[in-house]
Formats: sequence, structure tokens, C-alpha cells
Amino acid sequence: ESTTVTIIGAGPAGLVLANLLAAAGIACTVVERSSRVHVEQRARAGFLAANTVRVLTGAGLADGLLKHGRRHDTCAFRTASGEFELAYGGLGRGEVHTVYPQQDLVRDLVAAFLDRGGDLRFETAAVAVDGLGTDRPAVTTRGPDGALRRLSGRFVAGCDGRHGIARTAVPAGAVRRYRRDHGVSWLALLAAAPQSMAAVAYGVHPDGFAGHMARTPDVTRYYLQCPRGDDPAAWTDDRIWTALGARLRADRHGPLHRGAILERRVVDMGSDVLDPIQYGRLFLVGDAASLISPSAAKGANLAVMEAELLAAALTALLDGGDERPLARYSADCLPRIWRAQEFSHWMINLLHGPAGDGEEAVFLRALQQARLESLQTSRRHQDHFAENYVGI
Ligand code: APR
Repeated sequence: ESTTVTIIGAGPAGLVLANLLAAAGIACTVVERSSRVHVEQRARAGFLAANTVRVLTGAGLADGLLKHGRRHDTCAFRTASGEFELAYGGLGRGEVHTVYPQQDLVRDLVAAFLDRGGDLRFETAAVAVDGLGTDRPAVTTRGPDGALRRLSGRFVAGCDGRHGIARTAVPAGAVRRYRRDHGVSWLALLAAAPQSMAAVAYGVHPDGFAGHMARTPDVTRYYLQCPRGDDPAAWTDDRIWTALGARLRADRHGPLHRGAILERRVVDMGSDVLDPIQYGRLFLVGDAASLISPSAAKGANLAVMEAELLAAALTALLDGGDERPLARYSADCLPRIWRAQEFSHWMINLLHGPAGDGEEAVFLRALQQARLESLQTSRRHQDHFAENYVGI
């Protein structure tokens, strides 16, 4: 079998790329290991940056998010000394977020691609990639019937996430991997309850960080910092709500709307960046290119930025014979990836102080306090924050 671009993975990265290529008249085949139901129900991120909305709107992929997404423009920090709000929609470049659950976006993107007659194969895993150094790279897939098929094309897009096969297809030594374990873990929660306040809230507390983020009118995302390796099952609903109430200081700022906990998952905060994010005819997009901690909700937005650049570069080559944009795909993406990594890393240090009474921990917690005070009082700092918080 043959196509022009083989896309491995139907997450936000693969699906945006597939839709942009299809709109440009470039043949592509998407292979996705999981089922359609699984992909369309997987709750992940939900904060879309202005650039993401621009890309999706320009491609006619934004009907759902423009109709059901909610504008979000304020975040609040709750500390021992009280609460302060940053109305970031009026700071920096004046950009806001659109809150739209990622699984809804994925569902829209799948429907749009299939409506265009796109070739999207669920329950079909890429099991091998070869010929990356040639002009005919091929992906071997295993479909739902268990049969192996060879799909050859001119290009391969690795959109298969952090544990995908695309990363491993690059020979050792051809790519450098930068990485950092931030040493912090979050219990990621979805609660069957409306949001408890209008803003995103970040609670900085001696027991650890707690976060509150709107999703839909009936479901709210919460985070609780927890010890590495904690068993999510040890967190009963009661224990969760007690910890959230304490760390978000509900006694002072008002009670939280409680509801059943629908999902509890421990996420270790880690980041990595591959350099370059292309090798021969293989191009990495999204988590396959760079994993970013969820502290600033950058993952899906970076994926969309990269998918747009890659689609434009492939179109320039296949339609106009211009090889240059594709040759510099990695060089164009990496500075933006590092800017997002820098901001996420800064957010981690803003939201988490080390525990304990050791000399270093006490010092670092004092720095954390100074950082929060600077953000609270300096308009220039707030502008810088807003620009990076929503920007890509
Ligand atoms: N063959 C086919 N599909 C695969 C394979 C494989 N060998 N390995 C992984 N996949 C699929 C996964 O099942 C998944 O659906 O690739 C997809 C990767 O999707 P995501 O993990 O969502 O990655 P990406 O599209 O890069 O996501 C961008 O959105 O919410 C965020 O955390 C998410 O930061 C990430 C961002």
C-alpha cells in the first residue's frame, strides 16, 4: 500500500496534521493503536491558547470549540497571605484561553477528517518504521485482524506521543534528548461538579500545591501535589475534598462544589526535548517531539503549533517544490518548544516549594514567596507572565 504521508497516532498532533494536509490536497493515512471510542473519551487537557484557536479556525476545524468552548481570562493564586487575581486577558498581549475539553476537540477532528474522506485506521498499531534515510520510508502496521501490512510513502509523521515508536526509530546518536525530572507528582482529578470559582486557582500551601481548572459545566479538573509513587486508590473522595479545601483555603475564600471523583491518576512532572525533531523523512510532532509538564497547559498547544508548521512545510515542498521550510522544521519549532519549557519550569518553581526544614528547602521556599510577591505587585512581571501563559 502507498500514501504520501503516513501519520502515526491520532491524538491532537496527528489529527490536526491530517486535517491540514487533507485540506491542502495531500494524501495521508493515519494509523492509531487504540479504538475510536478510547481516543474520543480520553480526558486530558482543555485550555486552548489563542494561537491554537487561530489555526483551527483558519482550517474550518473550530465549529465545536467556538460554539461550546468558554472564554477564560483570569487566574488566581491563593497563599498564606491571601488571594490575588491576574486578569491576564487584559495583560501582556491581551490573549485569552478557550476552555474546551481535549476529548471533544479530538472527536471534532476525527469527524472532520472522516467527512473529507480521510483514511484513518483505528486499532492499527505501527510496529516498525524503516527506510527513513531513503525517499520511500515505510511503516509496518498490525491491524485489528492481527495481520501485518506495509504502508510506504514519502514521509512519516511521528505523532504517537512520548512512548511511541517514532522516537525509537531514530538511530542512537542522531538525536540528542534533553530531559528533566521535576521531582514533583500531581494527583490529577476529574470531579463531577461545576467549577467552584470563575478563575483557574493555584493554591500554594505547606501541605503542597492544589489546582482548580474549569472543564465543562458539570466537570472540573483538580490537582493535588502528592508523594512520588502514591497509590491513587489511597485517595478516597473524602480525603481528596478535605485536602483540596485546606490547600485552596476554602475557609477563607468559600467552599468548593463537591461531587464524585471520576478520575484519579498520579502524574510525575517530567519534561524532555529531542533535538533535532526530524531525521531523514521522519518528522516528530507533539509529545513525540517534546514532553512538557502540565504545569502551564502547553502540551496540546505546542502540538498544534508544530502540526501547522509541518503541514505548511510539506505543502510548500509537494505543491511548490520548495524544500527549505521542511529542512528547517526542527529549527523553526525548537525555540518555541524551549520558550514553553522555560515557562512551564518557572511555573513549577512558582507553585511548589520543597518540603522540610533543611537549610536549602527553607531558602528555596523564601525565593518562591518572593516570586509570588513579584507577580502580585509588578505590572511588568504580570505582562510577561500573561504573554507566556497564553502564548506559544
Ligand atoms: N501506533 C499507532 N498509534 C500509536 C502508537 C503506535 N505504535 N503509539 C502510540 N500511538 C497513539 C496513542 O494511542 C495516542 O492516541 O498515538 C497517540 C498519541 O496521542 P497523544 O498522547 O495525545 O499525543 P499528542 O497528539 O502529541 O498530544 C499532544 O495533548 O493533552 C496533550 O498530553 C497531551 O501533551 C499532549 C498533547
